[in-house]
Amino acid sequence: MRKNIVAGNWKMNNGLSETQMLISDLKKQIKTSEAEVMIAPSFTNLWHAFEALRQDDIEVIAQNMHFAKNGAYTGEVSAEMLQSVGIQTVILGHSERRAYFNEDDAILAKKVDAALANEIRVIFCFGEELADRKAGNEEAIVEAQIKNALFHLDASAFKNIVLAYEPVWAIGTGETASPEQAQDMHKFIRKTLENQYGNNVADNMTILYGGSVKPANAKEIFSKPDVDGGLIGGASLNAEDFYAIVNSF
Ligand code: G3P
Repeated sequence: MRKNIVAGNWKMNNGLSETQMLISDLKKQIKTSEAEVMIAPSFTNLWHAFEALRQDDIEVIAQNMHFAKNGAYTGEVSAEMLQSVGIQTVILGHSERRAYFNEDDAILAKKVDAALANEIRVIFCFGEELADRKAGNEEAIVEAQIKNALFHLDASAFKNIVLAYEPVWAIGTGETASPEQAQDMHKFIRKTLENQYGNNVADNMTILYGGSVKPANAKEIFSKPDVDGGLIGGASLNAEDFYAIVNSF
């Protein structure tokens, strides 16, 4: 079912004490909002965050996971390990994982399958590089990323998938996509889903925008008809800024 979501991707930030302080600050900001609110701490902080927020309207989610059930994958974390600390949603396909850890479409398809097989909801990230957009290839790039990692799935699988369009040139740069650029791409993504799976999947798909979302620009971006919320990086590390974005609907 399509819904409004604001998820904070903490990336590789915050040890345990910083996590405790940020969660304490977030608790002071919580109030009934139209959006589902999520935070994605690093693996080492997941259990503490889950326990600390067990009674609050903030879901703790993971930034990544491996596709294997278990075994000789030093440094990796499996779906079952995430479930063992209460995690029910995972971010997959983030551009930083694609760029720095060589996560290609085939690997991401396996990760998506593993998450869904373990009844873990997926926030699937994708987005074009600046060179792609300058060349006018952004739609072709995004279509390929979605099709190559997701279009082997049955329509029913999409009820457990949230899409997150994150133009790489907007991540961490302060160069936010304009609300019109975000809307155009989200509309294209929804049409791509409709062409493959029909109206039901397309109309019920939650599509988030990520890439330099800030309190100053969130309201206009989220007001667009095909934008259902945001995946927030830097601004999620400050409780007031994060909730200014949450309250932008
Ligand atoms: O996953 C969200 C992230 O990539 C966006 O980062 O710092 O541009 O909000 P930021």
